[in-house]
Amino acid sequence: MKKNKNKIQLFDFHFPAYRPRRIRSHAVLREMLKETRFSAAQLVMPYFVRAGRGVREPISAMPGQFRFSPDTLLPELAKLSKSGVRSVLLFGLADAKNEKASGAFAAAGVIPKTVRLIKKNFPELAVITDVCLCAYTAHGHCGLLDRRGKILNDASVDVLARMALAHAEAGADMVSPSDMMDGRIGGIRKVLDKKGFPELPILSYGAKYSSSFYGPFREAAHSAPAGGRNIPGDRKGYQMDPANREEALREIALDIREGADMVMVKPALAYLDILREAKDKFQFPLAAYFVSGEYSMIKAAAQKGWLDERLAVMEALTAVFRAGADLVMTYHAQDAAGWLKK
Ligand code: PBG
Repeated sequence: MKKNKNKIQLFDFHFPAYRPRRIRSHAVLREMLKETRFSAAQLVMPYFVRAGRGVREPISAMPGQFRFSPDTLLPELAKLSKSGVRSVLLFGLADAKNEKASGAFAAAGVIPKTVRLIKKNFPELAVITDVCLCAYTAHGHCGLLDRRGKILNDASVDVLARMALAHAEAGADMVSPSDMMDGRIGGIRKVLDKKGFPELPILSYGAKYSSSFYGPFREAAHSAPAGGRNIPGDRKGYQMDPANREEALREIALDIREGADMVMVKPALAYLDILREAKDKFQFPLAAYFVSGEYSMIKAAAQKGWLDERLAVMEALTAVFRAGADLVMTYHAQDAAGWLKK
């Protein structure tokens, strides 16, 4: 076996010569020696946006989160900006759904419209847009389906690339494909380059698992896969099996090769091992998505008085950063930014 010179020799530490508690005895020492820190600039706040005016619909499965129309989102962003959070992730609710997901790339759609409005009113915010078809297809899948209910991978990639381009043309600072079709990063990169956006970054949901923790999001975005005759009722045909680790590394490697500028692991808490491994292996900008179900679990327990919300959120986020994330998308972003100041 190869000897690792840098490895700590645990038997070199002896009690009572070494007493680990000495460095924990004083608050200043504890603060000094904290190994993991993060700042509000590393948190990304997701929002659900729908067409209309004056909309502020509470999302029942996500206490404290709302569906906004572009006009009601603006005052929210003023508060967000004050908190120190610097970037937002936008999810659109379709004006109309159809088999071709044509609402996904409409230049007059709710996302391009919202992006323009944000860039005009809050030029200091980085606007990241979600690129996926599930909210725009009648069946709720992240890609197009043929008549027998099979995913049309390559045709879906073409639509995703058009969607990313529509967001780029509206002024998005980064596009973020979450669909898990094969070849989408390369497909999107090619179209962006050809149409004059060679410098627009892509944040790829490289390793996105087929997770029960997306449940509340699907209520929020009206994007649950419908299921039915010939139509699968889940996303297992494109999202990854939670049991798989090597496959996640292959997915991430492939996305980096295709031109991703940042990669993501999603969800976060149940996948900390994947985050750590991806960071160690690729040394590449790494995001984690602290998803809706993770948010709602803490919120629900806090509402019942079973958990201290602030402590639970800060502990969980610290764990995600400790595991290797450089940034975290989280519905707790604004609250956490406030707690970081105190
Ligand atoms: C769309 C998408 C989903 C999430 C982000 N983008 C849902 C899904 O894949 O079903 C989940 C985010 C969350 O749960 O907070 N493909």
